[in-house]
Amino acid sequence: MPPTDHGDISGFGRGSALLRRHQEDTARPQEFTLLGRDWYLLDGVFSPTYTPVTELFTSWLPYPAGGSFLEVGSGAGVTAVTAALSGCGRVTALDIAAAAVENTRRNIGRHHVGDRARAVHSDLFSALDPEDRYDVVFWNSNFAEAPGDFVNESDLHHAFFDPGYEAHRRFVEEAPDRLTPNGRLFLGFCSIGNTPLLTGLCDRAGLTVEVVRSERRSPDPDTTLDFRLLELRRA
Ligand SMILES: C[S@@+](CC[C@H](N)C(=O)[O-])C[C@H]1O[C@@H](n2cnc3c(N)ncnc32)[C@H](O)[C@@H]1O
Repeated sequence: MPPTDHGDISGFGRGSALLRRHQEDTARPQEFTLLGRDWYLLDGVFSPTYTPVTELFTSWLPYPAGGSFLEVGSGAGVTAVTAALSGCGRVTALDIAAAAVENTRRNIGRHHVGDRARAVHSDLFSALDPEDRYDVVFWNSNFAEAPGDFVNESDLHHAFFDPGYEAHRRFVEEAPDRLTPNGRLFLGFCSIGNTPLLTGLCDRAGLTVEVVRSERRSPDPDTTLDFRLLELRRA
């Protein structure tokens, strides 16, 4: 994996700035266009319009034709709905934030994929049937590491901060058991995330980490971020 590369501002600082933008943008639209489709955007939900993450990862992921797809942390639901529209036969989108679940439901309805996609309110995999397995499991995660004693005081905070990387630890430990025998596990990550910590967590969970695709983008003239789609495989 490439070294962490987040310039002179920490992941926590960047996450805080993006959270403020979500909270303070008085011109935040209730609908947006991305990847050639129109989407609803509810208050209190991560907006795919401020950063390229949603667009990049949604464009890069493999969608198994006729197969099953699980999106952890679906936010507005762009990736999950795209999976359903790209040929997946069964899609589950889950999120810890109630507004995100409702937002995903509305976009499932808007794009008429309710026969094969559902939205579930869940902290990682906790609300899923214990036997539920998927061909692809994906999370565009809250990769800004927050101090272990930091509290995500609103649902929206969960979109950005993972205190002590506890959710990442649970994800890498639990997600492999959610895969079908040839299933694939992906994590959407970024250079402001704590790459050494993630790699250590994967190592302890018996997973290797491979960058399947990455792209450098400059959200402002002083910063270049590296957006990475990681595949986690059993070592
Ligand atoms: C960076 S946002 C990505 C949203 C959406 N997938 C997208 O790409 O636009 C991360 C999402 O993960 C969700 N999330 C954070 N912790 C979670 C957890 N423990 N269980 C389920 N979802 C979680 C957040 O609520 C948020 O919607």
